[in-house]
Amino acid sequence: DKGNYRHFMEKEIHEQPEVISHTLARYLDFAQGTVANFDLPFDFAKIERLAISACGTAYLAGLIGKYWLERYARLPVDIDIASEFRYREMPLPENSAALFISQSGETADTLASLRYCRGEGIPIAAIVNVRESTMARESDGIFPTLAGPEIGVASTKAFTCQLSVLAALTLKAARARGTITPDEEKAFVRQLAEAPRYVSQALKLSDGIEKVARELSHVRHVLYLGRDTNYPLALEGALKLKELSYIHAEGYAAGELKHGPIALIDEQMPVIVIAPHDRIFEKTVSNMQEVAARGGRIVLITDEKGAKNATLDTLETIVLPDVPEFVAPIVYALPIQMLAYHTAVLMGTDADQPRNLAKSVTVE
Ligand code: F6R
Repeated sequence: DKGNYRHFMEKEIHEQPEVISHTLARYLDFAQGTVANFDLPFDFAKIERLAISACGTAYLAGLIGKYWLERYARLPVDIDIASEFRYREMPLPENSAALFISQSGETADTLASLRYCRGEGIPIAAIVNVRESTMARESDGIFPTLAGPEIGVASTKAFTCQLSVLAALTLKAARARGTITPDEEKAFVRQLAEAPRYVSQALKLSDGIEKVARELSHVRHVLYLGRDTNYPLALEGALKLKELSYIHAEGYAAGELKHGPIALIDEQMPVIVIAPHDRIFEKTVSNMQEVAARGGRIVLITDEKGAKNATLDTLETIVLPDVPEFVAPIVYALPIQMLAYHTAVLMGTDADQPRNLAKSVTVE
């Protein structure tokens, strides 16, 4: 039932504050300010590497997880698209573990990767939304996302719930590996506790988003740029836009711009830059200046500090609340989803059931 929403996708986008909150509450003890006690099929203190594998949007959640686990828990992470992983014959050292991420728990390539790891004899964990799924059954331990059924073909709430679980696992790993202090853990838990509220605020951005969506609905190509955890979000923004509106979009690490894609920039090219005011904001701004100098039209998705400090002409600046760097990916997922959704609505494509796509890809 879509309730008062035009599409399931719109409904699912709006469910995010609630489902993120449910998911976080399962993995964090807000009263104590600690990560909760839950079982793991391996010991984060003892493993030396973690291999993550998934497809599409779930893979991009994993890519953000890699940045988090490496930065905060000092745990080296290998991540691969499942269709590559399954045939890559990756060596898996004895002290490694594998993590699979899937909304459906049935994606053929992810399942094949899981079975490859099973054959290699390493412990297997899965972040799944469907708890009765094949991946859930075949894993040594599961971390359910509590997103509820996701009907829209394009993943939205499953993605932010996957990020929520990955953030909690990062704290679990950091604690086990002694890379954060109890005070730091408390501070991170407090930041995550606020995530649903920031996400609710992001849902109110509609006006700016509508304006940008109108622009996008007239173009053939769009570029998304970001650095650090905003790089996977740039990839996710491009993926969402192409699957929903059929506009060609590409996501790039902002620093890669001058290694090729800058040749694409002209007055026709909207460039969507995801850049909260974080440690590397200035670096991304200098990439934006390169775009502006070539006539590219910049849409900046940032926070209040970023909007003040980016002295540039933009087509539109979408301003989110200032949020701590650790939780930013969960919040910045919202404007990206909303932009793709509104563009699809304006263009008259079917947001819930884009052409050629299936919700669950159970064949290779
Ligand atoms: C994109 C999207 C897909 C899925 C991918 C994996 O919006 O929804 O890219 O993320 O097909 O599906 P699951 O998570 O079911 O393994």
